[in-house]
Amino acid sequence: MKHLLKLQDLTTEEITDILNLADQLKYEQKHGIPHNHLKGKTLGMIFEKASTRTRVSFETGMYQLGGCALFLSSSELQIGRGEPVEDTARVLSRYIDGIMIRTFAQEEVEKLAEYGTIPIINGLTDYCHPCQVLADLMTVREYKNKLDGLKMCYIGDGNNMANSLIVGGLKVGMDVTVACPEGYYPDNTVLDFTKSYPNFKLVNDPKTAAADADVLFTDVWASMGQEGEAEKRKIAFKGYQINDEVMAVAKPDAMVMHCLPAHREEEITAKVFEEHAAEIFDEAENRLHAQKAVMVKLMA
Ligand code: CP
Ligand code: NVA
Repeated sequence: MKHLLKLQDLTTEEITDILNLADQLKYEQKHGIPHNHLKGKTLGMIFEKASTRTRVSFETGMYQLGGCALFLSSSELQIGRGEPVEDTARVLSRYIDGIMIRTFAQEEVEKLAEYGTIPIINGLTDYCHPCQVLADLMTVREYKNKLDGLKMCYIGDGNNMANSLIVGGLKVGMDVTVACPEGYYPDNTVLDFTKSYPNFKLVNDPKTAAADADVLFTDVWASMGQEGEAEKRKIAFKGYQINDEVMAVAKPDAMVMHCLPAHREEEITAKVFEEHAAEIFDEAENRLHAQKAVMVKLMA
């Protein structure tokens, strides 16, 4: 594994290795056991979109690993003035040891990896959010002690989160059912990927997807960059919500997960959100541990 660009690139074994290392690093951090695997190393973090969790967890994680992180807002880099990503990749490769990038086009991340000579980590694109889903799988495994054979349900937009959850869930042996309204389905490349998995279903009805689920996921109806479509999307996604009715058909001990930020009373009711706040904020915490594992795998 040279980069983390999208989960399709990882084998099941590589995902499991990351989750195991993440558990170990979490234990070490909680018990004050030093784990300076990246002493003297620098991570550059390029952000073309807003972030709370990704920024703070990568920056803190790098510090805990003995290295340091540079916050590079694209609006302050020459990239924001049109310097090609191909050149940025070659320049940054001369200074630093890895790049985490959050941007719009997946191609930009792939190009950084093609032209740079250092590991590239995808911190969210319009296409996928692999770091989030590694933390999500880590969290589900903590609560359920396994992943294989669990039933995952995703309700909402076929966006970056849906794309990564489908690929990650199927790779670790989960049954994955996704409920999206017509016109908002996951990416075609992801739907192609699912063709070899009979344990994948795409449906339109949220309750059909939630039936007997062990873990339910949702995400915002309008992602970053889609603010202008927010009103239109509120109509398209009406009913694509995790609420009491949906929870009633899931397993009684079903988990609810949300990558955050959450829009209460849109994709999830405030009531269900608060009833499942423990796992949702464990999920947010696990971004730190899962990403530390990714950085150690790629940069140590
Ligand atoms: N879930 C997530 O990626 O959060 P941020 O946008 O705050 O980084
Ligand atoms: N789908 C959301 C995820 C935010 C972490 C977005 O792209 O804005």
